Amino acid sequence: MSFRLCFPKINISGPGALAEVPAELEMRGYKRPLIVTDAILCELGVVNPLIEALKERAIVPTVFSDVVPNPTVALVEAGYRMLTANRCDSIICVGGGSPIDTGKGIRILSANPGPITLYNGVGKVAKAGLFLIAVNTTAGTAAEVTSNAVITDTVNKIKMVIIDSNSIPDISVNDPEMMLGIPAGTTAATGMDALTHAIEAYVAKGAHVLTDHAALEAIRIITQWLPRAVADGSNLEAREMMAYGQFIAGLAFNNAGLGYVHAMAHQPGAMRDLPHGVCNAILLPIVCEFNRPHAKERYARIADVMGVDIANLDVEAASRAAINAIRALSKQVGIPKGFSEFGVTADELPTWVEKAQKDPCAPGNPVAMTDEQVLALYKAAL
Ligand SMILES: [Fe+2]
Repeated sequence: MSFRLCFPKINISGPGALAEVPAELEMRGYKRPLIVTDAILCELGVVNPLIEALKERAIVPTVFSDVVPNPTVALVEAGYRMLTANRCDSIICVGGGSPIDTGKGIRILSANPGPITLYNGVGKVAKAGLFLIAVNTTAGTAAEVTSNAVITDTVNKIKMVIIDSNSIPDISVNDPEMMLGIPAGTTAATGMDALTHAIEAYVAKGAHVLTDHAALEAIRIITQWLPRAVADGSNLEAREMMAYGQFIAGLAFNNAGLGYVHAMAHQPGAMRDLPHGVCNAILLPIVCEFNRPHAKERYARIADVMGVDIANLDVEAASRAAINAIRALSKQVGIPKGFSEFGVTADELPTWVEKAQKDPCAPGNPVAMTDEQVLALYKAAL
């Protein structure tokens, strides 16, 4: 059976990578990019150096800085209106998953008829749209690598997952110097999101030899470096390693798929506006416990790359050790124990089940779940 591998045409990584963006636009003749970002990054002065560097090359950007966490259909439409009003010829996303996903949505509308809700699901985007550079400032959703755009449909209260290789950025940029100011809580949440990507990709139905090595190396790097990045945000080496770890986790899951951690985490994200990384981190060990009997060798290997000495353990014990290692890492970086810490109560969980079952990430899980099993796992995550 054939296997399809998709990723950005160009990735620019390492300290100082941002400085290369203006030349990439200039050499292609783009003069009017729409910068899609958020107000906090503008206030922190993250976007200004890019604007100034663009102007030095006679490139005039328009800045759309209204992006908020869990971007909505209305937000994408507002960005698209700004793009057309200013006759923008390209898009530069600056930020984490939310600005990049918003930019991907705007890009879809630049070449395909609206509304953006038409593109929920897999492979529905006929035309790629405007040239898009994704400058990632977190580690991370890996939105700068992937074909996914997660947009909240507030009318139907669902997180749409638009999955199409036409949504992959033309150029992705990972500059760890832009990640030095991320608060510890966000570093922990986004890092656990990246770990979830790697673990789900490694055990997913779609896992392949071409993605396994990336997934395992991502798990190894993130386990080793996330606690250091959380403990000292100014540690450039830790930021750089996390940027690489989350990037290769993105390469893995963009091609191998995800599973029930993401399918289930999207629901509290949409219904309660909770951070994506925290939702994943809470659910990760619980879903892994469910999956473990169906992929014991794989979980044993995960324990190995997470630094557990499995030399004297049988597969059963080694696979269980992976779950313990995940819990220990989560605790070490300060992830909340459960959804009840955010005021979630058991009576709202049944409404999440059907949506989780329909989530496009669910079919990638190594084993299917019944509605009752999904509900039981949500209860365990309270
Ligand atoms: Fe994620």
